Amino acid sequence: MKQTHQLIQKWYKDHGRVDLPWRTTNDPYHIYLSEVMLQQTQVKTVLERYYFPFLKKFPTLKKLGNAPLDDVLKMWEGLGYYNRAKNLHKTAGAVNELPSDIDALIKLPGIGKNTAHAVATFAFKKPVPIMEANVKRILCRLNKLKTPTDKTLWEIAYNLVDKENPFEYNQAMMDLGAILCTPKDPRCKVCPLCDICQGKDEPTLYPRKKKHVVSTREQNIMISVYNDKLSLTQRSGKFLHGLWGFPSLDVPLCASEYIGDVSHAYTHFKLKCKVYVYNAPNKKEEHYFTIAQIQKLAISKVDDKIVKLYLDTIQTY
Ligand code: ADE
Repeated sequence: MKQTHQLIQKWYKDHGRVDLPWRTTNDPYHIYLSEVMLQQTQVKTVLERYYFPFLKKFPTLKKLGNAPLDDVLKMWEGLGYYNRAKNLHKTAGAVNELPSDIDALIKLPGIGKNTAHAVATFAFKKPVPIMEANVKRILCRLNKLKTPTDKTLWEIAYNLVDKENPFEYNQAMMDLGAILCTPKDPRCKVCPLCDICQGKDEPTLYPRKKKHVVSTREQNIMISVYNDKLSLTQRSGKFLHGLWGFPSLDVPLCASEYIGDVSHAYTHFKLKCKVYVYNAPNKKEEHYFTIAQIQKLAISKVDDKIVKLYLDTIQTY
């Protein structure tokens, strides 16, 4: 095991993404923020568009906790899975500083078992493993597992973790998964884990891929226009809660005009919107906004696409 750990350390030093900004800081808040952003989003997007502006606006956990939720959602705009931003904000409002204990971390809003382990090891150097998607794939291949339970994976992970250098070990495991042990084209010949890997003859068999069927949801979206302003409402349901958007109607209004379609792929479904414009003769809805005002609101990607479609349409007339 010691030799395996040494090989991993060496590979990380030579080929790992050691300069990622959340790997060169000791600030638990910065590390926690990066882990939440990275839960569903690629490193490139987080690095190039979200991590630094968010920290500039909310440099400390305290400042984040004291900020209005709307401002937090605005900084999250386009990143998706907005519950992540709401939970960050709730956690920031609930504690003065992040605890280092895994059980205490898991009690905080939005922090699951993996994020708790990641914060514990990356911010507080605890000798515990993490269980991110890349790491899961490596563990499955090392042990020829097609459909392991979470319990099995955590047991294997705890046995394998390098307790002397947990920070580098865990960062390295993620990088190995992202760079070498990729889903379709693993490069076993140059992998530091090759000697102990049971699945290296046919690595792509592990883990078994889940087939997931993506359904399509259709909606009629209405843009009500009054005095060159557009009506948006703040969503109150579970989906995209807190973001501003255009309302959907079962049946479009007779007097409205169809201007085109907009679609967006979410993880579990595809949303297809038919967009209608209604020139309201009087102030029908509660909130009307100019385009400049809309740009300051937190809106989802779909609603942003709808605004763009609307602007393209009025420009061609
Ligand atoms: N995904 C989740 N945590 C990460 C980290 N620390 N570095 C790169 N990708 C990650």
